[in-house]
Amino acid sequence: MRVLSGIQPSGSLHLGNYFGMMKKMIEFQENSELFCFIANYHAMTSVPDGKKLARGTLEAAANFLALGMDPEKSVFWVQSDVPEVQELAWTLSNFTPMGLLERCHSYKDKTAQGIKPNHGLFAYPVLMSADILLFQAEQVPVGQDQKQHLEVARDLAIKFNNEYGETFTLPDPIIDEHVATVPGIDGRKMSKSYGNTVDLFQDEKALRKQIMRIVTDSKPVEEPKDPDSCNVFRLCRLFLSAEELAELKGRYLQGGMGYGDAKQQLFEVVRDHFAPYLEKREALLSDKDALKAILAEGAQKARYAASKTLRKVRKKTGLTY
Ligand code: ADP
Ligand code: TRP
Repeated sequence: MRVLSGIQPSGSLHLGNYFGMMKKMIEFQENSELFCFIANYHAMTSVPDGKKLARGTLEAAANFLALGMDPEKSVFWVQSDVPEVQELAWTLSNFTPMGLLERCHSYKDKTAQGIKPNHGLFAYPVLMSADILLFQAEQVPVGQDQKQHLEVARDLAIKFNNEYGETFTLPDPIIDEHVATVPGIDGRKMSKSYGNTVDLFQDEKALRKQIMRIVTDSKPVEEPKDPDSCNVFRLCRLFLSAEELAELKGRYLQGGMGYGDAKQQLFEVVRDHFAPYLEKREALLSDKDALKAILAEGAQKARYAASKTLRKVRKKTGLTY
């Protein structure tokens, strides 16, 4: 099964991104043919700062590799290293009714938030369709917010196949309805835009500071506490074993434990969990040439797969003459 997904390079990584998406992507490489890329062309729609985009791209690549993406098992690349995708996007544009794009929620939402409605933002789903169809992906794991873009990709594939004969595989979305939303330090969904994140890769001091800021009620130490409604406990669930959780739950219910103790336990477990990845990430970022060499090799594999599709498309559309 060929599984493909793209992830925008978007600053620091938090527990929501990790448990909601990255960890699962990395697991796909064990039993599928995984194609995974850093969507830096897409990020241009929200990061109009070259230095920031370049840095974010390398950091996103280092994050993935540190967390277990294995370039031997998977094809892992940076989107702009395979510019063939832009050619396919143009070809697909000629099969894209304006109304289809006008109906896309993400464009409407972004412009409603005050983001300038430029052509990149409008054509975003066409480029995303090209990402998917160029590699003949069968399954595409995405969040609920991207479901409509997958429908666009299928629509365009069908239109093209009808016109020129079977060319593109129809991709299916994989939307995991069961992914628990990771709560932020204020109990709302963890999100960069709410400023309520616990980030994976930071020094101990900064990590401790984020965890100590987790919002709790003001029950005194001696009083019994409810673990299920506690933001600290909800985050502990992501890391502790069943026995450890049962033990912690007992301490909540019994009373005699302050929230500070629970936070300290969470801090230690998060720090220890990510320490080896943090080290690996730093090593990767300290040798940018080696990191770029890994990405160049990934791009080469991706270009090979892309060229097979593009050759057919060029022939059928008359671009090869
Ligand atoms: P943010 O809300 O911080 O801007 P993004 O939208 O960049 O996060 O998230 C990228 C992906 O990470 C999402 O598609 C989703 O799969 C996952 N994700 C983000 N926040 C959470 C969360 N709180 N719980 C579960 N998954 C999340
Ligand atoms: N639009 C996706 C997001 O913001 C990222 C993305 C770009 C993508 N191209 C893709 C996801 C292709 C899946 C397949 O999350």
